[in-house]
Amino acid sequence: MQDFLQTLGSNVGILGTQWGDEGKGKLVDAVSEHFDFICRSTGGANAGHTIYTNGQKFVFNLLPSGLLHESTIGVIGNGTVIDPVSFRAEVAQLEDSGLKNVLERVKISLHAHLLFDYHKAIDAELERRKGKDKIGTTCKGIGPCYEDKIARRGIRCEDLLDTELLKEKIIANCKFHSETLNIELDPEADYNKIMSVREEIKPLLCDTRIILLDAMRQNKKVLFEGAQAHHLDIDHGTYPFVTSSNVSSGGICTGLGVPPKKISTLVGITKAYTTRVGSGPFPTELDDAFGDEIREKGGEYGAVTKRPRRCGWFDAVVVRNAVEFSGLDCINLTKLDVLTGVKEIKVATKYMLDGQELRTIPTTRKANLKLEIKYESFPGWEGNLSQAKSFGDLPPNAQKYVKALESFINCPIRVIGVGMDRNDLIYLP
Ligand code: GDP
Ligand code: IMO
Ligand code: MG
Repeated sequence: MQDFLQTLGSNVGILGTQWGDEGKGKLVDAVSEHFDFICRSTGGANAGHTIYTNGQKFVFNLLPSGLLHESTIGVIGNGTVIDPVSFRAEVAQLEDSGLKNVLERVKISLHAHLLFDYHKAIDAELERRKGKDKIGTTCKGIGPCYEDKIARRGIRCEDLLDTELLKEKIIANCKFHSETLNIELDPEADYNKIMSVREEIKPLLCDTRIILLDAMRQNKKVLFEGAQAHHLDIDHGTYPFVTSSNVSSGGICTGLGVPPKKISTLVGITKAYTTRVGSGPFPTELDDAFGDEIREKGGEYGAVTKRPRRCGWFDAVVVRNAVEFSGLDCINLTKLDVLTGVKEIKVATKYMLDGQELRTIPTTRKANLKLEIKYESFPGWEGNLSQAKSFGDLPPNAQKYVKALESFINCPIRVIGVGMDRNDLIYLP
């Protein structure tokens, strides 16, 4: 791991390349004891980052996964949306699991937006009204909170410092939304709820940009923990079946106030097959018994909503797209072990539409219906991969599969996940 870390430099981003749940949390956790700050720049408690260590399971939603190491400081940047009540509950859960001084090790941007129960109620109601066209959101209120932000009526963490104004803003926003959508909202309950955690949250609030800038000037090491993934990005993903923030590389800069040139390296996380939760195009989806088999073998159920994840073959067009447009330097391929025992493994290498090769995944329904996908097949392998400590220990066909993926996506694979545990990772030279 040391050689791998040395090539990364001081300020490293870890980003999802597919549709989320690639195993970002696991790599963040594996490397974070070598970093001083672990930062979330976008999203909120829609993320679910799972870590297994010594048989214990931890799931991080809004909090950065690197907090499992007690020397790290977690930063929740201006680009995030925060429900302080669920944040407090997440801290309590981690402390119950034995983690120490969590609150003391977290800093929250004064400019991050506050997410209230009314956002969750609106999220659920809008999904209900969309019927079969629903996005399949996590119903955590993420979209409605970002809508308020963009409409410049959002309520920010700094508003916790002036409770009179805070109350006025909550009442005004609930009035606006209940009139617009014709639904009942309860501003009083939201105000009381937030007041119940305000005293504990207030000391964590600060200008996180300055803390990070000073840290980087002092050559401290900063890790940017991506949430969601490139194809869920509001601009670069499969719109409208996306989340409501910029979760690809640009989001690190805007969501934390970090200048682009300060990011030394970007590591993409890529599952050895593909999964997606919620609606939207998924060209290599296996909507059959074999897809069900992968779901069971890979434990593909949402870490946040427990929904079954849709499963399919590796899609090199999708991953190559994330490599190119997020400017990724290398890849951590995860869950290679889950494919053990599959006789023939397929990889989508090309999309054709009306006789033309596409560089990227189309977003319109019509184009997706007409899309022709070119696959290449690879022979499978047997054996327990979690015993492998180096690339050469992997079965020859697994090695061939990894090398083929590397060439399809045009990016070096530097880490391979071969099991659930924190240590089930192979670092390549
Ligand atoms: P994240 O949102 O990207 O952090 O990923 P999730 O935690 O939602 O989902 C990834 C799941 O795969 C988690 O349960 C991880 O513990 C698990 N995982 C990650 N890498 C590996 C791996 O290499 N092998 C196996 N078997 N499981 C893995
Ligand atoms: P991590 O960080 C997988 C998906 C939802 C839905 C769409 C919009 O664990 O990889 P939202 O609630 O954000 O408005 O939902 O985005 N989604 C995720 N899918 N992993 C995630 O996070 C996700 N966060 C949001 O399922 O399709
Ligand atoms: Mg997840």
